[in-house]
Amino acid sequence: MRIFRLVKTLFFEYNREKVIKMMKILFCSGEAYPFSKSGGLADVAAALPKALKKLGHEVTIITPFYQQIKPHLHEMTHLGDRMITMGTYEKKASYYKLIYDEVPYIFVDNDDFYNRKRYYGYEDDAMRFTFFNFAIFEYMILTDHYVDIVHANDWQTGLTPFFLDVKYRAINPSFQKMKTLLSIHNLEKQGSYPLDTEKLFNNKNFTYIHMDRVNFLKCGIMRANAVNTVSENYRNEILTRFYGFTLDGPLKARQHDLYGILNGLDQDHHDPMKASLYANYGESNFIEGKKVNKEKLMDELKLEDKELPLLSFIHRFARQKGIDILMPVLEDYIKDQKFNFIVLGYGDALYEQFFAEMQKKYPNHVYYENGFNDELSQKVYAASDLFMLPSLFEPCGLNQMIAMRYGALPIVRETGGLKDTVTPYNKFTGVGVGFAFKNYDAEELKQSIDEALLLYKEDREAWENLIHQAMHVNHSLSKMAKKYVELYQKLLNEN
Ligand code: GLC
Repeated sequence: MRIFRLVKTLFFEYNREKVIKMMKILFCSGEAYPFSKSGGLADVAAALPKALKKLGHEVTIITPFYQQIKPHLHEMTHLGDRMITMGTYEKKASYYKLIYDEVPYIFVDNDDFYNRKRYYGYEDDAMRFTFFNFAIFEYMILTDHYVDIVHANDWQTGLTPFFLDVKYRAINPSFQKMKTLLSIHNLEKQGSYPLDTEKLFNNKNFTYIHMDRVNFLKCGIMRANAVNTVSENYRNEILTRFYGFTLDGPLKARQHDLYGILNGLDQDHHDPMKASLYANYGESNFIEGKKVNKEKLMDELKLEDKELPLLSFIHRFARQKGIDILMPVLEDYIKDQKFNFIVLGYGDALYEQFFAEMQKKYPNHVYYENGFNDELSQKVYAASDLFMLPSLFEPCGLNQMIAMRYGALPIVRETGGLKDTVTPYNKFTGVGVGFAFKNYDAEELKQSIDEALLLYKEDREAWENLIHQAMHVNHSLSKMAKKYVELYQKLLNEN
């Protein structure tokens, strides 16, 4: 009997260590796929909550009700309204709920603020997002839905830790013990506005002031219980002057509460076995599978010479993505017929013009489509031999992970999350999943491209091994979600 009891106690103790308490999380984001998306934040805002839910936690996403989301109105439940005071302004927040992919989304509506074409870039952004930050707490009051963790993301929700501290904590015990995490996906965009913006806050404080302006992101960095960014390497880089975008000081001040958690990839969505391709394939039959996809796509896009390697570039056209060092070298390769090139994306006019001109000049070897076409992009990943991401800086980068999953070998600059996810090819050991260079320099990019082209041409076996290794990499969502759970738990255990 005694032995039985002892075994039972040991078993119980062992399991208790493994059991993590169910947590309630409110995921606050300026954009969330598929309802709104301007960058990778939107993808993470959809994927992380879904993965947290799979681990048994209760997650709700809260995001503005933009114009493009209006067609979904009839699927939503109106939860009620709250008045929000910002200095001398009184504005109404209306809350709508929709369950998507089993996760509840709360849309905060105010026609004046969000019924517009774009998400950001208006003169009154400071007020539009001050409103959203207050509205996050008013939602909890309205619905009596108090969470354990307020998970803020980027500048758009950087004021939440401040509003919680100076206004809401005093209101009730649920707010009082709430913890906040700020995730940084983009350090360049900070929500920096003239000083008189503070009139909207109903409260003055120095933590949001940065270089004589109000800075939403700095506010979050200074005040959240913890801060993280989306890869370990970028976590260290942003403590330096070059990568810190003037916020390296505040980040250094918080470095003991600053974490790096690598993004995961929605591997169900990005799966060459299931995606709508010309032919599905996996690790065991990628040689044939990729060949079919390449040939059919080239026919469809009217690209010539199937023997040439196919290289693609699928990104926002922003300075961040390294187009400045790609531009000086691209044309020579195309002219000399070294590879074919597909580019999908949109953004800064300078880059759009460059790609449009390349297509016009070399229509049989360059295909450019302005915009984001999810179905076409999956086909391009599947057809490509190589994928380009020579970023100036890169918090994590998701597209190189997608490329690897489809067996397109990435050529990247060793920076941020690219360094953490792309092990460069080592010709002595055969280890690697792509090609990489160190400095932000067109000549170094060129060397990496040359290295890749040479291997493609001269060593089929090594090339195919690399593809296999790249496809085998596993950056799963559950890995990422477990790391966030650990961090949330740590915060809740602190007083
Ligand atoms: C931003 C970053 C990108 C990151 C994404 C999601 O778009 O530029 O590197 O992967 O956010 O965190």
